[in-house]
Amino acid sequence: MAVQEGEVILDVQNLQTWFLSGKHQETRLRAVDGLSYQVHKGEFVAVVGESGSGKSVSALSVMGLVPYPPGLIVGGKVLFHGKDLLQATDEEMQAIRGEKIAMVFQEPSTALNPVVTVGKQIAEALRIHNPGMSKKEAMAKAAGLLGEVGIPNPEVRARQYPFELSGGMQQRAMIAMAVSCGPELLVADEPTTALDVTVQAQVLDLLDRLRKKLGMAVVLITHNLGVVARYADSVKVVYGGKAVETGPTDAVFEEPCHPYTLGLLRAVPRLDLPRGYGLHPIVGEPPDMSKVPEESCAFAARCRYATDGCREGRPPMEEVGEGHYCACFHKGETLEERRALP
Ligand SMILES: Nc1ncnc2c1ncn2[C@@H]1O[C@H](COP(=O)(O)OP(=O)(O)OP(=O)(O)O)[C@@H](O)[C@H]1O
Ligand SMILES: [Mg+2]
Repeated sequence: MAVQEGEVILDVQNLQTWFLSGKHQETRLRAVDGLSYQVHKGEFVAVVGESGSGKSVSALSVMGLVPYPPGLIVGGKVLFHGKDLLQATDEEMQAIRGEKIAMVFQEPSTALNPVVTVGKQIAEALRIHNPGMSKKEAMAKAAGLLGEVGIPNPEVRARQYPFELSGGMQQRAMIAMAVSCGPELLVADEPTTALDVTVQAQVLDLLDRLRKKLGMAVVLITHNLGVVARYADSVKVVYGGKAVETGPTDAVFEEPCHPYTLGLLRAVPRLDLPRGYGLHPIVGEPPDMSKVPEESCAFAARCRYATDGCREGRPPMEEVGEGHYCACFHKGETLEERRALP
């Protein structure tokens, strides 16, 4: 998996999304805290990080779907083909969502309407973006899409309600709906966590196939590093609402420079990861982002290499290899630790 070339379609710059609470909204949870990353045309990008690190909120921020209140995007840019989506009007965003950028949500049950048949839901999505399409044509196309995502008897299934479908089929129906308008970018938030391993693999293979067929870029949010190793061109490791290490998947997995990345890799018992990683959980708790000082490395409290400098200044992102970036004052020690592993 080489360094990505070609057009950058999504350029997230210093995105900051807060949740405000308290009587005078004085408590500020910095769910996304200066996140930057880029996605190239047709690229398969994985976003990894512990629970609560801001993965879903950053995806919702890109889609313009952060619930306000209490959520508020307080800074940054989300450039899609150079246009800042954070400045787009509601009408512009509606046109972009679905047609250019689509999202598969973490919970299929919350995204599918329980009282409308799955075929009709997909058909409605199609007709919103293609006003000239007849109802009949849209229903036929919807069934076709269900077949394409591997649902058997798609004409029958199209006439059923979400509860009549298994979890795996609901997830596939969501993907069918998401790709129905041929988006350039699909953001998939943990699309397979609720599924068993075989179905997980089928859904991911499906995403990858659609990516190649449609030339669509995929941003996959996942906890599963085995999945990242297998499918992703590049990986963004997030911690405390910001990217701490990004780069081509091979480079990040072979030569991690951030202690958190190394910790993540060492915490999984996966045979399909490079040798030397074993089951060593990261000690401590994810940070409370309403308490971590703004000018400090969010990982410092859990980091074996942390020094006063880490608590007093936020390390900048620096290039450590071709297309490989890391934000840490102790990159050298981390890499040495990695290289010393058997
Ligand atoms: N609607 C909300 N109101 C208040 N706080 C929220 C809301 N949604 C998310 N948060 C907070 O924002 C932070 C980031 O949450 P987010 O859902 O993005 O995490 P995540 O990385 O997706 O985690 P997971 O892996 O568990 O899905 C968390 O501290 C979470 O509690
Ligand atoms: Mg999430």
